[in-house]
Amino acid sequence: MHVLMISPGFPDDMPYFTRALASVGARVLGVGDQPPGALAPRVREALSDYLHVGDLWNEQATVHAVRQFLRGRSVGRVECLWEPGMMLAARLREALGVPGLDAERTVAFRDKVRMKEVLDRAGVRVPRHARARSKAEVWSAADHVGFPMIVKPVDGAGSADTFRVEGPEGLGAVLDALQHVHEVTCEEYVDGEEFTFDTVCIRGSIAFENIAWYRPKPLVARQEPWISPQAIVLRDLGVEPLQGGRDLGRRALDALGFETGFAHMEWFRTASGEAVFGEVGARSPGGRLTHGMNYACDTDLFSGWAEAVCHGSFSQPTERRYNAAMVFKRAHGSGIVRSIEGLDGLLGRYGPHVAHLDLVQVGQPSRDWRQVVTGDGWLVVRHPDLSTTLEMADRFATDLRILAS
Ligand SMILES: Nc1ncnc2c1ncn2[C@@H]1O[C@H](COP(=O)(O)OP(=O)(O)O)[C@@H](O)[C@H]1O
Ligand SMILES: [Mg+2]
Repeated sequence: MHVLMISPGFPDDMPYFTRALASVGARVLGVGDQPPGALAPRVREALSDYLHVGDLWNEQATVHAVRQFLRGRSVGRVECLWEPGMMLAARLREALGVPGLDAERTVAFRDKVRMKEVLDRAGVRVPRHARARSKAEVWSAADHVGFPMIVKPVDGAGSADTFRVEGPEGLGAVLDALQHVHEVTCEEYVDGEEFTFDTVCIRGSIAFENIAWYRPKPLVARQEPWISPQAIVLRDLGVEPLQGGRDLGRRALDALGFETGFAHMEWFRTASGEAVFGEVGARSPGGRLTHGMNYACDTDLFSGWAEAVCHGSFSQPTERRYNAAMVFKRAHGSGIVRSIEGLDGLLGRYGPHVAHLDLVQVGQPSRDWRQVVTGDGWLVVRHPDLSTTLEMADRFATDLRILAS
């Protein structure tokens, strides 16, 4: 089967998915804006052919160029796991008559207001919300939504331009900061812990499911540079506090008509135990979470996904063996990384439980964690016991110090 893969070499995880498609027997046709020479050798090897386009986001032109490029080759799937390309994937499916999410269903995964409207109608608990395209509309949304209120772009990512507003006195400044954003959604602020619900589905049935716990919430991590954010892939999904989220996740995917592939949802659990929907993407999670799930289950979800989309089956292990804590480091200071403190002691103590360690090198420039999810490096510690995992993660978060100046 020919699979058309959008942006096969970028961002980070795409090379893994591209290679996985080839490994399950697909003939992978890539389309992207990276020049062929910029593709990593392992990506090039996995591709049967590659179409380089100047402006990938010009949908009409890209659809036209893909038609020419195919020269009669018929495509069984169009795949994209990168949020900005979801709509392009839908347009290509429609143009080529390929099954999978069409444009209408894709809009409900892309537009945070449309998404919540569909879910609201299906009886899924979503935050009170309203779309706004002007300052006046934000003020009137505030009457409906109340304070504290979240104001964020309808199609944002990585908590960019996302604000929590305590009361009317703070709204003016936030509106000024959001001048460049064309359309926002105003939402009831949901106070609670934040989790993911990640799935690989086949024809609407869940073949693999996962829950990860953000420590702290992504919005807090974005505002506090000193924090080393963590995502804990949880071993035991059967515990009572997670059942509301699992149920909500299933109902959300059903209501949105999700079929086959990866989906990544976020949800909140309030102090009273209520599960409230956050957002969902029809793609794999970012933040290297697919690797985190692999470490938790000693599995390969890149191949699991590829098998699901190409063959409609799933044969990767799903037994949850560990809690896997992903810790993302941020240098203290900026400039050149001068030293890394505490690593030897931590490895001496926890070495056997460290599944992954990839830190910036001394002498290298520190990175902008607002742009690069993995910041100045990331690591995974894992253990069957949750409290032991959390303790190790906290030690790496606080005692491992990357100093830059
Ligand atoms: N209604 C809400 N209540 C509480 N926190 C929210 C709400 N909406 C967003 N957030 C916070 O902002 C973060 C980013 O919002 P999200 O809708 O997930 O957009 P993004 O696409 O940027 O990830 C969330 O992970 C969460 O921490
Ligand atoms: Mg999010």
